[in-house]
Parts: sequence; C-alpha cells; structure tokens
Amino acid sequence: MTDHILIERRGAVQIIRLNRPDKKNAITRAMYAAMAAALAAGEADPPVRVHVFLGVPGAFSAGNDLADFMAVAMGGEGGNEVWDFLLALAQAQKPLVSGVDGIAVGIGATLNLHCDVTIATPRTAFHTPFVDLGLVPEAASSLLAPKLLGHQRAFALLCLGEPLPAESALAAGLIHAVVAEDRLEAEALAMAEKIAAKPPQALRIARDLMRGPRDAVVARIQEEGEHFRARLKSDEARSAFAAFLARKKSA
Ligand code: COA
Repeated sequence: MTDHILIERRGAVQIIRLNRPDKKNAITRAMYAAMAAALAAGEADPPVRVHVFLGVPGAFSAGNDLADFMAVAMGGEGGNEVWDFLLALAQAQKPLVSGVDGIAVGIGATLNLHCDVTIATPRTAFHTPFVDLGLVPEAASSLLAPKLLGHQRAFALLCLGEPLPAESALAAGLIHAVVAEDRLEAEALAMAEKIAAKPPQALRIARDLMRGPRDAVVARIQEEGEHFRARLKSDEARSAFAAFLARKKSA
C-alpha cells in the first residue's frame, strides 16, 4: 500500500485524497491500486454513501506518472492497476464528488467526467495532452467528453490538448461550481453530505436512470485501453516521455 493515497471516512462520506505533492500528485500504479481498493471497500460498506476525490493545494493531479509510462514504453509489464481503477470508477453505484484545485492533467482531468458533482477553483485548468504525448484519450473520455461538451470543444480538449479553464468548464456544463481555493474542501464535503442525506435507494435509481447502462462506458474504456497500450510503445510516445524526463533532469 502507498501513503500517496489517504483514505478517510467522515460519517457517510469516504474521502479519497491524492497526496503526492512533490510530484504534483502524478499517479503511480500503487496509487491506482489504492484508489480502486478504496472504491471497492466503500461500495461494499453500507454506511458509506458517497465517495469524494480530493488533491492537495494547487494540484489535483498531474496525471499518470510519466516514469511509469516510460517503463512500459521500454518493454516493462504494465499491470492491471489502471484498468481496475477505471472499471471501479465507471461502475461505482454510489455518487462520486470531486474537489479540484489547480493542476488537473490526463486522468486528473478525465476522472472528473465520471463524477456526479465536480467543484473546482478559479486557478484550475483541465488539460489532456494525450495526442501531444503520442497517446489517445482514456477513461472513456472519447465517449463522455463529446457527450458533455459537444464534438468541437471535446476535440480542442482531447485532440488539440487545449487547457479548459474552470470557468469555461463551468459554462460548458463539465463541472458544477467554481469556488475560492480556501472554500474548496468545505464546499466539496458539504455537497457530499447533502448527497449522503438523500434517501439512498431513490438516489441510486435516479442516478442509474441518468447514467444508463454502463456497458458502453466499460467497452469504450477497453477499446481506448487497447490503443493506449499499443501507443505507449510507439516512437511518438517514447520520445515525448523522454523529453519530459530529460527536461526534469537538466532543470
Ligand atoms: N509524472 C511524473 N512526474 C511528474 C509528473 C508526471 N505526470 N508531473 C509532474 N511530475 C514531477 C516533475 O517531474 C517534478 O519532479 P522533480 O521535482 O523531481 O523534478 C515535480 O513533479 C514537479 O513538477 P514540475 O514540472 O516542476 O511542476 P510545474 O508546476 O512546473 O508543472 C505540470 C506542473 C503538471 C504542468 C508539469 O509537471 C507537467 O506537464 N507534467 C506532466 C503532465 C503529463 O503529461 N501527464 C500525463 C498525462 S497523460
């Protein structure tokens, strides 16, 4: 287990906090595994009624750890941690809330597409530079983002890699609210408590009706994953990872 993911229960609310501030909350395989396990445990525990994802001040997440990507690009074993987490996210029966401050890159952005309520701060920007990294969208973002944003804004986000500032994300319907940094956690947790106070059975049915069958989302995660794994070993991706890692070495 890793201390880069902190799990906390506050009444009916389970908090899953990304806590690797020195790496801007870049997510390692161990962190994916810890988050998948937390979702599974919370889903199986009746007193838990809502999951909340939080980061650290200024960094929700810089996305997948690029050193981990590089290891796979160089022929290493990928493991199932990402898949397990994405599946748990897509199949969660209990509502998902996120509180996002600052950096929200890659999975740090696409995770929120699965949330029922995302609250962000003015300095937040959602950024998915998949194509620039020689990769493809993941976490069913190629399905969910066009649905939420329309094709053109989704194309700008997922293919052009244009950052989407919080205010634009709010206007586009991607997130629920923008609040000041010092209010973020209080607001996200107040929202979680509000959700937790609803009649859980009625809420579950209402949420299921809104989401529809999960099969299409799971199938897209799988389809994207096949491309993603192949792309990780591509020359385009290898050179993008090497450029990032070299930038850090010479800095
Ligand atoms: N994987 C591994 N390490 C990462 C990382 C990632 N995705 N994102 C940041 N880090 C590390 C940096 O290497 C640096 O480590 P160091 O201090 O040991 O050199 C540390 O986190 C701080 O990052 P830094 O780049 O100095 O912070 P910044 O505020 O200037 O920039 C980002 C933040 C997120 C804009 C920048 O780090 C970045 O572009 N990261 C890569 C994001 C990415 O492409 N993610 C994958 C998406 S699929």
